[in-house]
Amino acid sequence: MADTEITNVTEYEAIAKAKLPKMAFDYYASGAEDQWTLRENRNAFSRILFRPRILIDVSKIDMTTTVLGFKISMPIMIAPTAFQKMAHPEGEYATARAASAAGTIMTLSSWATSSVEEVASTGPGIRFFQLYVYKDRHVVAQLVRRAERAGFKAIALTVDTPRLGRREADIKNRFTLPPFLTLKNFEGLDLGKMDKADDSGLASYVAGQIDRSLSWKDVKWLQTITKLPILVKGVLTAEDARIAVNVGAAGIIVSNHGARQLDYVPATIMALEEVVKATQGRIPVFLDGGVRRGTDVFKALALGASGIFIGRPVVYSLAADGEAGVRKALQMLRDEFELTMALSGCRSLKEISRNHIMTDWDAPH
Ligand code: FNR
Repeated sequence: MADTEITNVTEYEAIAKAKLPKMAFDYYASGAEDQWTLRENRNAFSRILFRPRILIDVSKIDMTTTVLGFKISMPIMIAPTAFQKMAHPEGEYATARAASAAGTIMTLSSWATSSVEEVASTGPGIRFFQLYVYKDRHVVAQLVRRAERAGFKAIALTVDTPRLGRREADIKNRFTLPPFLTLKNFEGLDLGKMDKADDSGLASYVAGQIDRSLSWKDVKWLQTITKLPILVKGVLTAEDARIAVNVGAAGIIVSNHGARQLDYVPATIMALEEVVKATQGRIPVFLDGGVRRGTDVFKALALGASGIFIGRPVVYSLAADGEAGVRKALQMLRDEFELTMALSGCRSLKEISRNHIMTDWDAPH
C-alpha cells in the first residue's frame, strides 16, 4: 500500500507484517496466552458510544494539554516499546524525532536499542524514561541518573512485570534480539545482550535480571535516588490506585502492558473509571492499550484519563516508513481526535465530559 493510501493507523500492521522477519513481527504483535485481553483491549472501545452535543460553535478546537507541567500539542503520547531498531534501522531516533515534531511526549523503554544519551542527542523534545528494576540496584540507580542527566522529565515505573507473561509466539520462535542489536542502556554492564534460550530469550533474560521482589517500598526507594516525578505504569484496580496516591506517585498509567502480561485482565478502558474515581483527582491518570482511533482517545478522556499512550501503532508505522511513518500515525490520530471533538461539540479538553459517552454499565439517562 502506498503511503498516501493509508488512512488509519491500523493499516500499518499489515505493512509491518509483510516487511519484518516473522520473529520480529510476532514479538511486536503478540499478547499473552489466549490473547483474550489483546482482543478485548480493542473490543471494549467498540462498546462505548457517543452522546454528541449539537449546535455548538466548533470552528476552533484546542487540543493542547499539560502533562506533569509540560505543555504538549495533544493528549496522545508514545508508550515505551522495546527494541525499535528491530523495526527500522533508525529505531528510537526516528520515534524521538517524530514525537518532537508532533509536539508530544515520547517514553523511552529501558530495553531500547538506543541509549538515553543517544535519544537525547536527536534534539529537543519532552521525554520520559520507562524503568525496569533490575536485581542489581546499582545498575538501576546509575541508569536513572543517566536519564536525569540526559534531560528526561519523568520515570514511568513498570510494575506489571515481576516475570514475563507467556507470549507463545516468542516461545515457538525462540525469540531473541538479533546479534547486531543490543540493549543499549546496559552496554558495558554485561547486561546488554540477550542469549538464545530453549524458549523465549526475553523471558529468560527477565527471569535472570529483573527483580521479582519489587514492591511499594521500592517506589519509596526510587524517590530517594531521583527528583524526577514517578508514574506508576500498570495499575488496574482502585486498591492499587489508592496506594499509588499514598506513596506519592506523580501519576498513574492504567495499562495491561498491551495485553502481554496477565491474560484475562480487563481491557484498560474498562478498568479506567474505577482507577480515576479512586484517585479523587489527586494525581493524573493516563491510559494505554488498544488506542487506534481518535474516537478511542476521546472515550478515554471522557472516562477521566488525562491523556493516552500508543504502543504498537508506533512500532508498526516505524517499520513501514521510519520517522515519516510515525509522524503520519501521530498526525492521523490527531486529526481523528480533532474531528471527534468537533462532531461531539467539544472545543477544548476540559469540555469533554462523562455525559459525552454512554457505556453498557451506565444507568439510563
Ligand atoms: C511493550 N510495552 C512495554 N512496556 C514497558 O513498560 N516497557 C517496555 O519495554 C515495553 N515494551 C513493549 C514492546 C512491545 C512490542 C509492545 C507491543 C508493548 C507495553 C507498552 O508500553 C504499552 O503498555 C502497550 O503497548 C499499549 O498497548 P498498545 O497501544 O500496543 O495496544
